Amino acid sequence: MEKQIKRIAVFTSGGDAPGMNAAIRAVVRTASYHDLHVYGVFRGYEGMIDGDFKRLERKDVANIIHRGGTILKTARSERFMSATGRKAAFESLTAFDIDACIAIGGNGTFTGAKVFSEEHNIPFIGIPGTIDNDLFGTDFTIGFDTAVNTAIEAVDRIRDTADSHNRLFFIEVMGRHAGYIALHTAIGSGAESVLIPEVDMDLDRLTELLLKNARRRKLFSLVIVAEGNKIGSTQEIARIIKERIENFDIRYAIIGHLQRGGAPNSLDRVLASRLGYAAVEGLMKGEQNVMAGIINDHVVFTSLSDAISKEKPLENDLVKMAEILAM
Ligand code: F6P
Repeated sequence: MEKQIKRIAVFTSGGDAPGMNAAIRAVVRTASYHDLHVYGVFRGYEGMIDGDFKRLERKDVANIIHRGGTILKTARSERFMSATGRKAAFESLTAFDIDACIAIGGNGTFTGAKVFSEEHNIPFIGIPGTIDNDLFGTDFTIGFDTAVNTAIEAVDRIRDTADSHNRLFFIEVMGRHAGYIALHTAIGSGAESVLIPEVDMDLDRLTELLLKNARRRKLFSLVIVAEGNKIGSTQEIARIIKERIENFDIRYAIIGHLQRGGAPNSLDRVLASRLGYAAVEGLMKGEQNVMAGIINDHVVFTSLSDAISKEKPLENDLVKMAEILAM
């Protein structure tokens, strides 16, 4: 017979994302509604290893739905990658009598959760929280929409100065392995081109495209560069293009961690609330070692193993559309 779940641990891990607090709040309040006890684990797997736990009640998650970052802090844990570290984490969970864990994070977080739950037979539910939007099994991850809005706001500002000076700007956004942020930022900011890991683009094609724009008397250009693009660093791309087209006045900007901070927007608050609620309800119905996601506006549970290993394809039509709209 399955053990009845009475005590849940919740934690955030990996890169923070706006909306994580809204997810923590939803987990705590849903669990409390069902008379379950929730323990917050600080600093992700690091805190789990160190036994850094705190009982969370309804009032502890008041006044956080609108806050960026994560009240539970986060970390990328090296120690959890070893069996010794994971054993120590399991001992902490046992000491607090934890029956199940809810992990809010991205690919690395769920990879750790999968290995850990197999080794120590403890149920996990994942909530996708990463600005990268690169998890299979959900249309959107918590934090993505806010991050894209932040990036677009930054690009709008750069557009003003690029326009005034007739300059070509390369603007780097986050996305180590995925081009979602870059593609959506490019479409939403009306950029001339976008470099993402999923689409082959070489310097020759890029040079040709920029020259074509110049021939069409476009006086300034914005190129959005995903940090994981296949050509190279943004600085290097800017340098090479300058060598090839000397009369272009070129600058680059890296938006960086600005994209990860700030208050979550309405989409992320609602998404995080839905997923936090779904994770607890799912656990109570016997779901385990799955990620709660939303596909076509419905809650869907996907195995952790699919969520981390299956590729979430970029909508090809969006790539084509971005090109057509930029002409
Ligand atoms: O969380 C995802 C992400 O923001 C990636 O887009 C980025 O490559 C990475 O985290 C940066 O990580 P860190 O904050 O550890 O430098």
